[in-house]
Amino acid sequence: MSEKEISLAVIKRLPRYYRYLGELMEKDVVRISSKELSEKMQVTASQIRQDLNNFGGFGQQGYGYNVEHLYTEIGKILGLDKRYNIIIIGAGNLGQALANYTDFEKRGFILKGIFDVNPILIGLSIRGTEIRLMGELEEFIKSNNIDIAVLTIPKHNAPKVAADLVNWGVHAFWNFAPCDLNLPKDIIVENVHLSESIMRLSYDLKTLKEQPN
Ligand code: NAI
Repeated sequence: MSEKEISLAVIKRLPRYYRYLGELMEKDVVRISSKELSEKMQVTASQIRQDLNNFGGFGQQGYGYNVEHLYTEIGKILGLDKRYNIIIIGAGNLGQALANYTDFEKRGFILKGIFDVNPILIGLSIRGTEIRLMGELEEFIKSNNIDIAVLTIPKHNAPKVAADLVNWGVHAFWNFAPCDLNLPKDIIVENVHLSESIMRLSYDLKTLKEQPN
């Protein structure tokens, strides 16, 4: 089966497999059965087998999975064996917090630039990356081969900024602004709406409290 035919539900589970396998590697675990992995991850062993069979099944009967091999293969499927140049638009609380997070680089996401409209921030450096004015952005994108733009700006500005970025050649967005960007179909957008996530938590907590003891 080609990767294109694999359901989105399976693809969405892969980062979690990847994280668990990474933890096993840190503990020098060489191999693991689907049963052991299922106990750790709290999903059924058959779900794990089904998911991984989509990619040709990396396991061997009676052996289980070679942790490092599976980790590497899932990493390749997720494209984590590649490097991506990223920029952050909006150097406020969230933009600076993301710029300070070193783990993205370990996964191949290389921070090339940080941009803002606020002149007070210009010239400040976050872990060696200078904050620049938006006026420099078009030229910067063209000369730095930018793959992904991270949007950490207010929602009323995000759609216009995103549309400009598309015109200048950016094809993928990690959007933290709580709005829909409505970009052309060939543009990839991964929305991270933290407020929606906390609303789901609120619902679960409310439901729990409403249950009879
Ligand atoms: P903030 O106000 O600290 O930072 C926003 C930054 O964007 C400012 O430095 C501002 O000068 C800059 N900016 C405004 N318009 C711009 C434009 N057109 N081009 C470039 N830069 C521009 O806000 P914060 O807290 O960092 O939030 C950023 C976005 O992320 C907002 O849309 C917010 O709703 C969202 N968000 C923030 C969370 C948080 O925990 N701080 C959580 C979830 C979402």
